[in-house]
Formats: sequence, structure tokens, C-alpha cells
Amino acid sequence: MKTLLPDLLLLLLLFLFLSPSSATTGRLILDFILPKIGSGTARPWNLSFLPDVSTSSKPGSKDSDLISALPGQPKGVVARQYSGYVPVDEKAGRFFFYYFTESKKTVNASEIPIFMWINGGPGCSSVGSGAFLEHGPLVVAPGGKAVAESSHAWNQFAHVLYVDSPVGTGFSYSDTPSDYQNYNDATVAADNLRFLVNWLARFPEYAARKVYLGGEGYAGNYIPQLAQLIHNRNRAGKYPAINLKGLILQNVILDADEDRWGFFDHLWSHGMLSQRMYDNIEKYCIKNSTRKGCIAVAQRTGRVVAPLYMFDLTAKICRLSEITTPRLPVDEYYECQEEDVAAYLGLPEVQRALHVNPSKAPKKWIQCNSNVAKAYGEITNSTLPILKNLLSNNISVLVYSGDANSVIPPMSSRLSIRKLNLSKTVPWHGWYPSKIDLGGYSEGYSEGLNYATVRGAGHFVAKTKGTQLQFLLGVHLNGTLANSTIPAVV
Ligand SMILES: *[C@@H]1O[C@H](CO)[C@@H](O)[C@H](O)[C@H]1NC(C)=O
Ligand SMILES: *[C@@H]1O[C@H](CO)[C@@H](O)[C@H](O)[C@H]1NC(C)=O
Ligand SMILES: *[C@@H]1O[C@H](CO)[C@@H](O)[C@H](O)[C@H]1NC(C)=O
Ligand SMILES: *[C@@H]1O[C@H](CO)[C@@H](O)[C@H](O)[C@H]1NC(C)=O
Ligand SMILES: *[C@@H]1O[C@H](CO)[C@@H](O)[C@H](O)[C@H]1NC(C)=O
Ligand SMILES: *[C@@H]1O[C@H](CO)[C@@H](O)[C@H](O)[C@H]1NC(C)=O
Ligand SMILES: *[C@@H]1O[C@H](CO)[C@@H](O)[C@H](O)[C@H]1NC(C)=O
Repeated sequence: MKTLLPDLLLLLLLFLFLSPSSATTGRLILDFILPKIGSGTARPWNLSFLPDVSTSSKPGSKDSDLISALPGQPKGVVARQYSGYVPVDEKAGRFFFYYFTESKKTVNASEIPIFMWINGGPGCSSVGSGAFLEHGPLVVAPGGKAVAESSHAWNQFAHVLYVDSPVGTGFSYSDTPSDYQNYNDATVAADNLRFLVNWLARFPEYAARKVYLGGEGYAGNYIPQLAQLIHNRNRAGKYPAINLKGLILQNVILDADEDRWGFFDHLWSHGMLSQRMYDNIEKYCIKNSTRKGCIAVAQRTGRVVAPLYMFDLTAKICRLSEITTPRLPVDEYYECQEEDVAAYLGLPEVQRALHVNPSKAPKKWIQCNSNVAKAYGEITNSTLPILKNLLSNNISVLVYSGDANSVIPPMSSRLSIRKLNLSKTVPWHGWYPSKIDLGGYSEGYSEGLNYATVRGAGHFVAKTKGTQLQFLLGVHLNGTLANSTIPAVV
């Protein structure tokens, strides 16, 4: 069965390419992760791995990274924003691009934590997705020429750091061409650690803050691996110790064995695949598979699901040509936002304001660079052993999924974390204190692990359900999610 998967998924992907949506993350995840499993390019993660992070680079000045204002930014947005490049290997000329937004919170300012966010892919920009589409203070407004203030920005409770990782993603680059060919989980985790250490050297006032790491999609590998390196580094007594408190994992790959079939399961359980099709997938690809039979079934299945927007089965599909009247820049969901983010970040005046290096930046800004995924070598097939280790060291973990996301569906995450065998403390229940909207369900485990779904959300949870998500993070961080007894409203 294992050897069939690469062909099966590659074929399926050919059909996904025909999807009317321009979104690429889901395709990358399917194209990228699943074929590697069982093909000898996946292996367990070395829990004691600690790369050399010694760096002779000067920390650089945060003053030159201060953003005076972004084009089309509404007046009166108080929080300071910074962006620019931090070296991960100065000799190689390898730099990560970041966008940092200070918190709007003013009470107990010295206790406000740092949230570092990385999108997945591999090759998808955190600045483009995490910041300007999902939970940054400013989201790109319809038309792609201005930004609007977001009502559900995470900088209402944290200082948020968005990082384009690895090089080739967003505005991050390297002067060494081979850096674009040599990606794997170990090199990326090492670069992410070097980035964070060097960033904290540039922003020393935050060096002792509580740190939370978050991400989505393939960051289900990046984030636990970075966390493990931070933990190992702290244990080795390196300065400064990073005060890592928790992980926030959104629609993530955790265990490829579960995730690879979740895709079909989710479509079937949402009435998107006929029973016969699902039975055939099970029969020809899962139970008693033959190469030929499985490929034929996958082709047929791929044709049926091609028109769906896999990131969000309930969302409207963007058809730019049908949007005739420019809308007011308001902070609310509309379906062509991903296209508008790409338009906005492609504007020369926006790039100037963000301190993008024009001689290094890609000619055309793209949300997801498929070359990164293509060049990405060995992956780790499961990050569950890492999570288990982190949990036993008091690092909390929240895993949540939008229940309309088909790319990495909620049930596969739930089944994955059940493999951790932690005692369950609280069963499913509804939460979110609103009479009109059920926020989702959660499941609490021991040792600081929570699992939750966000009802009606897709892959980019904050894009459609930002308020619910903010509430979810609040109760998780307060340590009350598992025991919150707000009854479900259905
Ligand atoms: C990961 O893959 C390697 C090599 O294929 C295999 O030996 C190992 O058991 C797998 N680990 C998990 C957790 O699936
Ligand atoms: C795991 O990492 C440690 C520390 O970097 C290293 O000494 C050890 O050789 C690695 N083990 C394997 C099996 O790669
Ligand atoms: C501010 O910090 C103090 C001391 O840690 C705490 O008692 C208080 O509740 C905090 N106030 C707010 C509004 O978080
Ligand atoms: C799979 O099907 C083939 C042909 O129908 C049969 O010969 C074989 O024994 C089956 N294998 C299993 C594991 O059921
Ligand atoms: C985790 O935190 C608890 C309570 O704060 C403490 O008793 C325990 O020693 C900590 N464990 C580790 C491994 O740090
Ligand atoms: C979390 O705790 C803080 C301080 O006690 C409180 O102000 C806030 O409302 C809580 N958030 C949620 C979502 O429960
Ligand atoms: C949640 O409830 C369980 C079982 O009643 C209890 O053991 C645990 O301490 C509670 N956790 C919190 C954070 O209140």
C-alpha cells in the first residue's frame, strides 16, 4: 500500500491543479508531504539534535526596521510595526524576512508575550498569509491597494512576529544558490533557531519574554522541531535562554500516517464523495491495493473534487472578473482576499515601506513558492514524539482545526494527538459565549494539551472566524479551555 501513495497523490494533484482557486498551499501539502511517506525520504526526528547557532553577525538596528506607515494604512493605528531582514547565515548571505507588530495592549506591558508565527507549504509566506490575511493588525482590503484595521488581530494580546521561512519563501533570500536546493527539516529548524536568536539580539528588550510559537500546515513540522531545538539549547545553558511557553498549531500536519487518508475521509463525510467512490478508495487503495486499480480510482476521485476549494468547503470561490464594483476597505471576509494580498505585497511602494531589498526580492511576489517544496528533501513523518517530549517539559500545546478545511482535516489531527496516549480529562463540548454562534468543540488532555475545532472555519481560520479564534486562544492561554463548561448552542 505504501508504495502506491506517491502515484496516487501526484495524480490527484494533477486534478487539483485545475481548481479555479489560485490558492496553492493545499496543493503543496498534498503534492509534497504525502508522496514522501513510505518512499524512504521520511524518518524520525533526532530529539537531541542541537545545531551550531554561534553567530558573529552584528545584531543590526531595529530603528531602521521601523515602518513609518504602509501605503493605504488607516490613520490612528497605534501599534508600532517593524520589518526587515535578519541573518541566519551571514557568510552564505542567507537572510529571513520578518514583519513584527507590537501589541496594542498597554496594561502590564512588560509581561506581554512574543508570538512567533510561521506558515507552511513548504514555501508559503507568513507575512502574506499569517499577517495580512489572517491575524495581523492590518489586513489587505478589497482591491489590493490599501490595508484595513483588523478587529481580531493577535497583537491585541501579544507582540506578534511573522517570519518568511525558509529562504525562497516570501521576501527571504540567500546569496548562495545551493541554499535553494538543500532544504530539509533539520536545516530549516536550525535556520529558524538562528533567526530567533538573532532577532532577539536586535530586540533585546524582549529577550526574557514568554515565547509562544505558532504556525499552520507544514509548520506542524517546523514549529515542534524549532521548539525542541530551543529546549535543547536552553538545557545546554546557552545564552540567552528562550522562555518558551507553548505551541499554537493550526490545521497542521502532525503524523503523516493519519493525515494522508484524512483528505478522503473529510470529503466523504461532508457529502463531497459518493459512497461508491469512497468504498473504491478503500478497496483499491487502502485494503487490497493494486497499483493500476488505485491510480484509476484516484483519477476518478480527483476529477470529482477538482472544482472544490479545499481550504474551505463552505467558502465562495474567488472570481476576480465577477467583482465589478470596488468595495470599501472593511474588515470582513470576502473571497478574493488572497489575490489582493498578492497584489498589495507586489506593489513597489509597499515593498519600499516594508524595507524589502529590491535587488534580492523575487521579481513577482507569490504567496507560495512551489520550488521550495520541490527542492525540499527528507521530512520527518511524525512530530508526535516531539510534542510528547515538550509536554512533559511544561510546554503547552494547542492544536486546532477549522472544520471546513479539507487539506488537513480536523479528524486526522484528532486521531493523531490521540496517539500520544495522554489521559483525556474532558470530553467534547461546545464553547464560545454567544447565543447565536457555536464556536466549536474542544477536548482537553493532561499535561497542557488541548485540541479544538473552530466551527465554519477553513484552513485560514482567522480569515473567516477571527473572533471565535481569539476567544479560543484566550481560554487556552488562561488554562481554562479544558474545563470551560459553556454549553453548546446548536
Ligand atoms: C517514519 O519513517 C521511518 C522510515 O520510513 C520509519 O522507520 C518510522 O517508523 C516512521 N515513524 C513513524 C512515527 O511513522
Ligand atoms: C542526534 O543529535 C546529536 C546532537 O546534535 C548528535 O550528537 C547525534 O549524533 C545525533 N544522532 C543521530 C542518530 O543522528
Ligand atoms: C498585572 O499583573 C499583576 C501582577 O502579575 C496581576 O496581578 C494583574 O492581574 C495583572 N493585570 C492585568 C489586567 O492583567
Ligand atoms: C487481493 O486481491 C487479489 C485478487 O483479487 C487476491 O489474489 C489477494 O489474495 C488479495 N490480497 C489480500 C491481502 O486480500
Ligand atoms: C512544571 O510545572 C510544575 C508547576 O508549575 C512544576 O511543579 C514542575 O516541576 C514543572 N516541570 C518541569 C519539567 O519543569
Ligand atoms: C483570560 O484571563 C484574563 C485575566 O484574568 C481575562 O481578562 C480574560 O477575559 C480571560 N480571557 C478569556 C477568553 O477567558
Ligand atoms: C480541570 O478539571 C480537572 C478534573 O476536574 C482537574 O483535575 C484540573 O485541575 C482542572 N484544570 C484546571 C486548569 O482548572
